[in-house]
Amino acid sequence: MQRLVRKAVFPVAGLGTRTLPATKAIPKEMLPVVDKPLIQYAVEEAAAAGIEQFIFVTGRNKTALEDHFDHAFELEHTLEQRGKTDALNDLTHALHKEGRIVYTRQQRPMGLGHAVWCARDIVGDEPFAVLLPDELLLSEPPCLKQLVDVHQETGGSVISTMEVPREQTSRYGIIDAGGASGSVVEVQGFVEKPDPAVAPSTAAAIGRYVLVPEVFAELSKGRTGAGGEIQLTDAMANLIGRRPFHAQQFDGQRFDCGNKLGYLEAILVYAAQRPDLRDGWLDIVRRHADAHFSKD
Ligand code: UTP
Repeated sequence: MQRLVRKAVFPVAGLGTRTLPATKAIPKEMLPVVDKPLIQYAVEEAAAAGIEQFIFVTGRNKTALEDHFDHAFELEHTLEQRGKTDALNDLTHALHKEGRIVYTRQQRPMGLGHAVWCARDIVGDEPFAVLLPDELLLSEPPCLKQLVDVHQETGGSVISTMEVPREQTSRYGIIDAGGASGSVVEVQGFVEKPDPAVAPSTAAAIGRYVLVPEVFAELSKGRTGAGGEIQLTDAMANLIGRRPFHAQQFDGQRFDCGNKLGYLEAILVYAAQRPDLRDGWLDIVRRHADAHFSKD
């Protein structure tokens, strides 16, 4: 029996330059999809995978994130007085027991690997999850739950991957795939942002990881990789051969909300799935699509 994955790290210290100006004063993880910020979807996915402690690695403008997961006494009191029970329940539902959410700060945005390393003392010597909240993943069971289940079998690192067009490999961490068993493949190599001509495959990491604590020793070396940043991919690749490493092919819908079109698509699909909004929303979409297409 492997050790349980109890802790999850949410790196939320990126600059969000692709989503400016919306992310000038708020972190991109606070961008709403329908009526919930991206970070709340990620925290809910983690909770559904059995995570008990949520570790946010924040940067500038962290106040909105902290406030979102805290009581808003005045607002709650007013909602209660006005009998707005549903809204009140929605607010309190997002809260976790005191002490379950922990914040640490990445003082300089030196890359994803560096952000994860900032959580080393809070994670300690146990396997842990990493979720990039700007990647919104829609699947049943939720993506992280699937990775945690694979980790229970293998005891090693596990990531979620999805096929991407070859011309896009230079945007992702790409695996070199070995033997497969169903949707789980052994990872023989892992490279960050390879040129399409040399990419070992087209299976790309999509922002969900279960990591073994040995990754911190690799990150401590402080080596920079693609883009001059400390890359999580490189640290994981250095553990290949020493600890098991598998990729689970993601079977679901993925929305990269770190870019504007991916974010718009997420809103379109999530609103269409909401029973209370669906009919009205699809009417609006049809009306505007007709109006815009007829202009071309
Ligand atoms: P991105 O590669 O999307 O970078 O980070 P970014 O800075 O957030 O956004 P752009 O590219 O400028 O628009 C992937 C994830 O890693 C976190 C981000 O917050 C995001 O969740 N990250 C990245 C950090 O926490 N620290 C870093 O130094 C870099």
